[in-house]
Amino acid sequence: MNEAQDVQSVGIHFPPGIPDKVTAEVSRIAQMFMVDGESLRKITDHFVKELERGLSDQDSDISMNVTWATKYPTGYETGQYLTVDMGGTNLRVCNVVLTDEKGGYEITQSKFKLPKGLKTGTADELWAYIADRVADFLRDHNLDQGDEKLPLAFTFSYPITQDKIRHGVLQRWTKGFDIEGVEGHDVVAQLEAAFEERDVGVRIVALVNDTTGTLIASAYKDPEIKIGSIFGTGCNSAYMEKCGRVPKIADYKLPGDQNVAINTEYGAFDNSHKALPRCQFDLEVDRTSPRPGQQTYEKMVAGLYVGEIARLVLIHLHDTVGFLEGADLTRLRRLNSMESSCVSKMEEDGADTGSVMSETKAILSEQFGIEPTLQELRVCCLLGEIVCTRAARLYACGIAAICKKEGLKKGRVGVDGSTFEKLFRFKSRAAAALREILEWPDDEEDLVTFVQAEDGSGIGAALIAALSSEG
Ligand code: GLC
Repeated sequence: MNEAQDVQSVGIHFPPGIPDKVTAEVSRIAQMFMVDGESLRKITDHFVKELERGLSDQDSDISMNVTWATKYPTGYETGQYLTVDMGGTNLRVCNVVLTDEKGGYEITQSKFKLPKGLKTGTADELWAYIADRVADFLRDHNLDQGDEKLPLAFTFSYPITQDKIRHGVLQRWTKGFDIEGVEGHDVVAQLEAAFEERDVGVRIVALVNDTTGTLIASAYKDPEIKIGSIFGTGCNSAYMEKCGRVPKIADYKLPGDQNVAINTEYGAFDNSHKALPRCQFDLEVDRTSPRPGQQTYEKMVAGLYVGEIARLVLIHLHDTVGFLEGADLTRLRRLNSMESSCVSKMEEDGADTGSVMSETKAILSEQFGIEPTLQELRVCCLLGEIVCTRAARLYACGIAAICKKEGLKKGRVGVDGSTFEKLFRFKSRAAAALREILEWPDDEEDLVTFVQAEDGSGIGAALIAALSSEG
C-alpha cells in the first residue's frame, strides 16, 4: 500500500464499538475531503493558467509579485548584513557575515516573541516594536557603528508590490494579521521612519519575501533547487522567471533572458472559486477569518488553518451525531483553539494500531477538558488523517503548477516552515500527489523532490542584499 494515500485509496477502517451514525457521518466527511488524481490534475491545470495570467496584466487571483531579486548566488558573495524577519509568532534579528570562503557565513541571532495583540494593533506599535528590538540587538552585540549605518534586509512575508528591491507597498494582510494603516503603504518607508525616530543605525537595503529568501538560500547550497516554498502558518512559493516572460514589466525594457524571482503569492489561488473543492468547513474557516474571501487555497492547506478545520469537524460530529457524547465542548468551541500540530499528533499517535493513544488523550484532556474513550480517540486519529491528507495533496498542486508552467522536468524544491517539519507524513503524501499530477511512470524515481530548505530569512535575505548591491 502506498502509505501516502491511506484514506484516499484504501477506505476507512473503524474500530468496533463506534455507533453507526458516527461512522456514516465520518465516511461522508472523508468523501468530502477526498481529492483524487483526476481532480488534482484539473486543479493544477487551472492553477497554471492563473500563474500565467498573474504575470500578464490580466486579472488573476494570484498576484505573481516581481521581487527584483535578479540573480542566483555564486557562493562568492561577501559582506555584513543585519536581517529582520517578521514572522507570525516571532521576530528574528540576525547579524550575517558572508565570508570570503565559498558559501561561507557566520550568523548571530536573537528571537523575540511577538507580543499578543500586535497582529491586530496599530501600525505605530508594530514598527516601534521592530525598531526597538533591532536597537536592542545592536546594543547587545556591540554592532552600533556610530554614523555608519549597517545595511539591513527585511523579510516581510506578505503580498507586496515592488518597483525596486528596497521598496514595497503592502497589497493586503494575510495569516491573521489585521493592522490598520499599512495596506496601500510602503512598508520600508514606515519602518525606516521608526528607525530614524529612535536613531537606530541601520538602513534597509532589501525587502524580501520568505519564499524568495528560501529559494536563494537553498540555491546557494544546491544548484538543483528550482522552487523555494513555505509550508508553515501560510503557504506560498517563489521561482526564477525570465523577464521576457513577464509581460507586466515590459515597460522596464529589461533583457528578455534576465532572471527575476517571482513571489507567486499563490495562497490566494482560487479566490474566485472556480477550481478547489471547498466544503462546509472551509466556508466556515473563511467566514470567521479576519479577511473573508481572501487566501482561499491557503485556508485549505496551511498550518494556520488545518487545526481550525479539524476543530470544526469535531464539533460538527458532536452536534449532529453525538460524537464525544456527554463531553463539555466549551473550550473546544473557542475559535482557533486547536493548533495544526495537535491534529498531526492525533494522527501520528493512532498510526500504530496497537497504540493506546496516550498523547492524543493527554492533549484533549489538558487543552480541552475532554476525556474520550479509546474508540473515540481512534476516530480523532482518522479525522487528523483525513484533514492532513487533503492539505498535503492540495499543497502539491501549487508546486506541480510551477513545474508544468516552467516545463520543469527535474529538480528540487526547498521547503521551509514549521508545518512542513511537523505534519505527519506530509512530505511523502505531497510527493505521492506530485507523482499523480505529473504522471511519472511507475518505474521512474521521483523527478521533482522536496528537501528541507536552508535559512531563507537569515542567509537568504543577506544574500539577496549582497546580490542587489552588486548592481
Ligand atoms: C502568506 C503570505 C506570503 C508568505 C506565506 C508564507 O501566504 O501572503 O507572502 O510567503 O504566507 O509565509
